[in-house]
Amino acid sequence: MKQLTTILLTLGVFMMAFAGSEEKVLANESNINDANQVLNIAHRGASGYAPENTMAAFEKAVDMKADMFELDVQMSKDGELVVIHDTTVDRTTDGTGKVGDLTYDELQKLDAGSFFSEEFHGERIPTLGDVLDEYRGKTGILIEVKSPSLYPGIEEKIAEELEKRNLDKPNNDKIIVQSFDHDSVQTFHSILPDVPVGVLLSYSSNGISDQQLTEFASYAEYVNPSKNMMDAELVSRIHDFDMETHPWTVRDRESAQFLLEIGADGIITDYPDYVEPRQ
Ligand code: G3P
Ligand code: CA
Repeated sequence: MKQLTTILLTLGVFMMAFAGSEEKVLANESNINDANQVLNIAHRGASGYAPENTMAAFEKAVDMKADMFELDVQMSKDGELVVIHDTTVDRTTDGTGKVGDLTYDELQKLDAGSFFSEEFHGERIPTLGDVLDEYRGKTGILIEVKSPSLYPGIEEKIAEELEKRNLDKPNNDKIIVQSFDHDSVQTFHSILPDVPVGVLLSYSSNGISDQQLTEFASYAEYVNPSKNMMDAELVSRIHDFDMETHPWTVRDRESAQFLLEIGADGIITDYPDYVEPRQ
């Protein structure tokens, strides 16, 4: 009887071990990522907690241990690369007018913090150079070329800023350049082919075709669609084309969880604490 009990117990342990390994294989075969491998990317800095695209927002992103932050680059009237999202200064500063109609000196005088909260009164519009000097090597930087058709030659100028700081080499300090304007992405790629680039995509009910993915894969490392287009199948297809995906923009915990579960490679969010931090 004792022998039979031992045999049954041994069989039970063996079956449990077998069941466990099968579960593991199934998990590996699914598209579920290890949460620790997902890049936590602070959108316009940690813009849920500080005024977007300011040093305060970038500092907050670093404090919150985001892996990277995203920023938007445009060009002043006198050719300085400035970090601001809208093509006018009206929403995020105390000034008015188009970014491209104002000189660097004029832009520098504007308060880019008070629109968010009085606590940030006096924050300035940074230059791309300021941000690279302060944060290169401390965190990854995802540079969006915003509305490049308004600023002919902006790709060359961004390339110069990176070259000056030796950030134009492969495996550098995690710099990625992206844009909704795919011609601009290709132009930048032709100037600095060693800096990885991504294509941004707005929501489209047509999804993304294999033909589009083939074209993107000929120059880009990242396909970054609106989070509203994402599902596990799209992540899988992007991976099949040897690219990665950083969807945008997460502003609630449920969306962060969903993107983690479908295996996104990075999550662009206003709230870095909504994404599981790296261990
Ligand atoms: O990085 C993606 C995201 O920034 C694109 O949208 O309008 O916030 O620049 P937007
Ligand atoms: Ca952006």
